[in-house]
Amino acid sequence: MSHAPLTNRPESDDDVAAQAAARHTPVLLRRCLDLLAPAIEEAPAEPVMIDCTLGMGGHTEGALRRFPRLRVIGIDRDSQAIALASARLAPFGDRFTAVRATYDEVEAVAHRFSQDGEGTVDAVLMDLGVSSLQLDDVERGFSYARPAPLDMRMDQSQGMTAQELLDGAEPGELVRILRAYGEERFAPRIVEAIVRRRSAGHPVSSTQELAELVRQAVPAATRRTGGHPAKRTFQALRIAVNAELDVLERAVPRALNSLRVGGRLVVESYQSLEDRIVKQAIAAGTRASVPDDLPFVPEGAGAYLQALTHGAERADEAELAANPRSAPVRLRAAVRLRPADQAPAAEPKPLTTTRRRQGRKTR
Ligand SMILES: C[S@@+](CC[C@H](N)C(=O)[O-])C[C@H]1O[C@@H](n2cnc3c(N)ncnc32)[C@H](O)[C@@H]1O
Repeated sequence: MSHAPLTNRPESDDDVAAQAAARHTPVLLRRCLDLLAPAIEEAPAEPVMIDCTLGMGGHTEGALRRFPRLRVIGIDRDSQAIALASARLAPFGDRFTAVRATYDEVEAVAHRFSQDGEGTVDAVLMDLGVSSLQLDDVERGFSYARPAPLDMRMDQSQGMTAQELLDGAEPGELVRILRAYGEERFAPRIVEAIVRRRSAGHPVSSTQELAELVRQAVPAATRRTGGHPAKRTFQALRIAVNAELDVLERAVPRALNSLRVGGRLVVESYQSLEDRIVKQAIAAGTRASVPDDLPFVPEGAGAYLQALTHGAERADEAELAANPRSAPVRLRAAVRLRPADQAPAAEPKPLTTTRRRQGRKTR
C-alpha cells in the first residue's frame, strides 16, 4: 500500500473515497483473489465472501470487480473505514454490505448473510493490522512520526486510549506489554523513563514526546539500526489498546467455522505474533485428531482443513517494488474439507506471554 499523507482534506465522502482509492494498493491482491477463486466460482449458491478487515475497501473492490456474481460483506471496527469504504463501493449497490463489528463476530455475520441455508459462506479474507487511512490520520496517534494525542484506538467510540494505558498501568504490566507485543528488549528502561515522568507530575502526553522518550531511553549504539527506536513501543501499545492478539485468537477459528465445505480462508499478517496465531489455527485443522501411534484414522477424526500455501508466502520483487507496504506480509490460506458441525475449529486458550515470546520464527 503506498501511502502519501493526506493533505488538503477533501470535504465529501466521495472525495475521500476517490482519494483513498487512488493512493491505496491492496497487498497481494491478485494472489489473494486467485486463492479464493475456486470457492467463489464454484459456489453452490450465490457466492458470499466476508472481508473481515474492510479498511479502505481495496481488496473488496478487487473481488467485486473480478467475480461478477459475488456479494461481499465487509467488517471493520473503525467507523471512519466503514464510511469511506461504503462511499467507495456504493457503485456496486447491494453486492456490498458494510458491518461495523470486530472480526471475532464473523460467525454471526456469516449466519446473517449466508445464502446456503447452513449459515456458512464461501470465502473469508483477513488483511490484518492498521490501514494507511489510520496511519495517515495524524489525530489517531498511530504514527510516531508526527505529533498527536496518544489515542491508538481503532474503534474510537470505546475502550482505553494509549494515553490512559500509559498513565494508569502498573510498571510491570507496561514492561510485559512492550516485551510481549513489541519484542522490545529495552522494555524496562523505557518503562522506567515513562514512570519517572509520571511520578514527576508531567507524564508523556503526545506521540512525539513518547517517541523522543524511547529514543533517549535505549542505548545510543542501538539507535542506528532497525528503523526508529520507538517503532516497537508504538506497535506494542497499539496491539494492547486494541486487544489485537486476543481478538485474532478467537477470530481465526470462528472464520474457519464460518466456511462451507470447499470454502476458503486467506489471511495476511504483518508481524510474527499475528502470523503464529494464524499458523497454529490452520495447522490444528490439517492434522488428524488421533494419537500418533494409532495405525488408522477413525471416521470423523481426519483433518478438516487443507493448507493452500506452503508455510507463509511473502511478497515477491515485483510486489515489493509496486507496494513497499507488502514487505512484512505473510500470507496463509486453507480450504475447509469437512463441515464445522463435525469438526469445529477449537478456540485455543489465550497464549501466555512466555509462549508468545518463544518460537518467534514462523515460516
Ligand atoms: C490493513 S487494513 C485493511 C485494508 C483493506 N484490505 C483494503 O484493501 O483497504 C486493516 C483494517 O482492519 C480493521 N481491523 C483491525 N482489527 C480489527 C478487528 N479486530 N475487527 C474489525 N476490524 C479490524 C482496521 O480498522 C483496518 O481498517
